Amino acid sequence: MLREDLTKILFDETAIAARMDALVECIDRDHADKDIVVIGILTGSCIFLGDILRRLTLPLTVECLSVASYHGEMQSSGVVTFRQSVMPDVAGRHVLLVDDILDTGRTLKAVGAKIRELGAMDVKSCVFLRKQIKREDVDADYVGFDIGDEFVVGYGLDYMGYYRNLPYVGVLSPEAVTRHAKK
Ligand code: IMP
Ligand code: MG
Repeated sequence: MLREDLTKILFDETAIAARMDALVECIDRDHADKDIVVIGILTGSCIFLGDILRRLTLPLTVECLSVASYHGEMQSSGVVTFRQSVMPDVAGRHVLLVDDILDTGRTLKAVGAKIRELGAMDVKSCVFLRKQIKREDVDADYVGFDIGDEFVVGYGLDYMGYYRNLPYVGVLSPEAVTRHAKK
């Protein structure tokens, strides 16, 4: 069972749903009368993105960007690579970037810069989790939950590609980390 690989659950399905309702209400209100393009940063944002989209009542279009920065490890590699050859057309649009977690901030910084370079009128960002650490000069405009400096999985967040399907978020046990490392 996947649940046994977690030392604790930080946010269960009920807590997440309640927070999503409040968060999306803010996004809806702040973007009234704007035509927005929501850009999910794959793969980690997949579940969060779906939950946000189902709640938003604004007219919007959706794009996804495939970005790699972790390469399956627990430490960020520091290099952000765009995997697709064709970037979304964001010229003159209000963009809302959606990512799973703000850790070092390198991903959001690199993607934000790229989207601005492509001519977006305005770029806002929304992350499900924000780690309470010292990071580069970047922050998210909308944050689901603040967490400590722990490695978490579930609700889209992975370790070595696993655990994304957990409907809640928890802290991965050292035993599980060791087991995956041996694979
Ligand atoms: P950044 O360090 O802010 O650029 O975050 C890069 C990416 O690292 C995130 O989008 C996640 O995919 C991954 N990441 C950072 N912290 C965690 C974590 O605690 N669990 C799972 N993935 C994480
Ligand atoms: Mg990841």
